[in-house]
This record gives sequence, C-alpha cells and structure tokens, in this order.
Amino acid sequence: MRVAVTGSNGLVGRRLVAQLLAAGHEVLGLARGERRVPGAFAYAAVDLADGALLTTTLTGFRPDAIINPGGMTDVDGCERDPVAAYDANVSAVATLAKVARTLTAHLVHVSTDYVFDGEDGPYSVDAKPNPRGTYALTKHAGEQTVKALLPASQWTIARTAVVSGWPSTGKNNFGFWLISSLAQGKQVPLFEDQWVSTSHATNVAAMLKELAERRLPGLWHTCGAEVMDRVTFGRRVCERFGFDGALIRPSRMANVKLASPRPARSGLDVTKTTQALEAKPWSVARALDELFRERQENP
Ligand SMILES: NC(=O)c1ccc[n+]([C@@H]2O[C@H](COP(=O)([O-])OP(=O)(O)OC[C@H]3O[C@@H](n4cnc5c(N)ncnc54)[C@H](OP(=O)(O)O)[C@@H]3O)[C@@H](O)[C@H]2O)c1
Repeated sequence: MRVAVTGSNGLVGRRLVAQLLAAGHEVLGLARGERRVPGAFAYAAVDLADGALLTTTLTGFRPDAIINPGGMTDVDGCERDPVAAYDANVSAVATLAKVARTLTAHLVHVSTDYVFDGEDGPYSVDAKPNPRGTYALTKHAGEQTVKALLPASQWTIARTAVVSGWPSTGKNNFGFWLISSLAQGKQVPLFEDQWVSTSHATNVAAMLKELAERRLPGLWHTCGAEVMDRVTFGRRVCERFGFDGALIRPSRMANVKLASPRPARSGLDVTKTTQALEAKPWSVARALDELFRERQENP
C-alpha cells in the first residue's frame, strides 16, 4: 500500500512511519523543514497550510491512504495564534480530504478528546462534542470537514489523548516531562481533578496503521485503555520507575488560570476499538513498560 503520513517528524508520526515501513508499505512523510526521522521512505517538506503544494505533492505520490497525525498540537499556542491553528487543523484537513476524494484514497484523520467539554467523561465514540478553546474548536472543525468532504466509507476519525513517548527531537510531552523531572528529584505538580486516558505513541501509531490498512471507516478512540486522574498516573510512574512518590504534589486544575481551557473529567471509551482491532489499547502498565524501555535505550 502507498501511504502518506503528515507530521512525520512528530511524536506519533515518526512511530507510524516506522511501523508502516516494517509492514512493507511505501511511505511518503510530510513535515515542516528538514527530515528529522531516518528510514527508507520518501520525504517532502511541506507546510500543511500551503494547500497548493500539499495537493501537488500528494497527487504526485498517489497514496492509497493518507494518515494525518500532523497539526498544531500546542494547546496554549493555538489560543495565542488562532489563524495558525485554523490553517494547520482545519484548512490543511480540507486539502487532505479533497485530495483523498479525488484519488479515492482513504483518509485517517487524528483528533482529540478535547472535542468534548470534560463535564462527564469518559466519552463514547457517539457522544456529542462540545469543544472549548481554540485548539478544541479547530480539531472539532477538522472532524466536521472530513465528514463534509468525503463519503462515509472513505474517512476514519481517530481520537487520541495525552500521548507520551520518548521524543527523538527534544519536544516535550506529558510522560517524558514527568519522568525526566522525577528522575532529577524535582517536585511535580499534578492535577488531582483532571481525568484522562493516557496513551503511548507507539500504541496509537499501531491503531492508526491498522485502521488505514483495513480502511475501517467512522469514529474510533485510539488511546490507552484506562482513565485515571493525573496524580494517580504520577504515582504509577513512581512505582514503575522507582522514583520517590513524595515528589508528586497534588494540585487542582480548578484553582489554576490556564490560557486555554482543558477538559476536567475526560477520558475516551475504547470498547469499540478493543473489540474490533488487533492492535488493542494498552493498559497503563504496558505503556509504562514501554516508556521504561525507551528511557533505557535513550539515557
Ligand atoms: N500529544 C497529545 O497529547 C495529543 C492528545 C490528543 C490528540 N493528539 C493529536 O494527535 C496527533 C499527533 O500528535 P503528536 O503528539 O504526534 O503531535 P506532534 O508531535 O506535535 O506532531 C505534530 C506534527 O505536525 C507538524 N506540524 C504542525 N503544524 C504544521 C504545519 N503547519 N505544517 C507542517 N507540519 C506541521 C509538527 O511539526 P514541527 O515538529 O515542525 O512542529 C509536528 O511534527 C495530533 O493530531 C494531535 O492533535 C495529540
């Protein structure tokens, strides 16, 4: 299969490229600037906001599937620069969907639990979104764009949440920040009133790959299998890595003024994914084992 992957330099994207190559697929990676990921795949430096270049590049490759983990993921950054957020998370998705439509390619678009307001999670795939904040609004608009532009058989929306993994490029993520801070003996403030489905990027990539290979349409939740508050997750990290649990400082999101709102009682129900995919959502224990292994490989 010929597969185009946006955000191929990113946390999920680079693992996805590696897994697609390992399965024998022909891959085109798309990202900004220099190629930051090694491997035997074609690469094009394309700003997702450049609709003309994105269209020409994809049309030249003629993918059977396009997987879109690319986009503007800095939640507070989206609040500061809504135009850039819209360009990367909505306009780019429209371009990808139009190209997919023309080429009859399958589009797997990656979205987020932030499409929900976090009043009463965990959320089923059929729950009604109510996005709050610019990042959430643009990701929800991206979902709507995919649905509007493609026949139902040709799109997949895969929502994920709080993705961790050892970064190759120094870009931070929740698990990496937490483990790095605890390893240095730093105290870490964690919200005890925010419930999330933490995920590992390798597991997310495996689910995206299978959705594309099998062209499974519709809405999917591609995140970790368990929902827990951040303090409980932090304590699980301490147990697995042998860090001092007293370094975890419970705090309350409700008492903190954030630039962009975050869902409080979030979490994604993965029943459908667990039943239908061979790549099952990982338990927290499995994800922590993988983070432990990655840390040992990247001291
Ligand atoms: N990470 C999470 O906790 C989380 C949670 C829920 C949902 N998601 C969703 O999961 C997907 C993958 O997330 P991730 O953690 O892998 O994110 P990531 O590491 O930030 O990867 C996104 C990639 O998109 C690229 N990108 C951003 N704007 C671009 C533009 N205008 N043109 C070209 N490339 C651009 C980034 O390039 P640069 O490297 O140059 O910045 C980055 O490599 C995203 O759709 C995100 O919304 C993530």
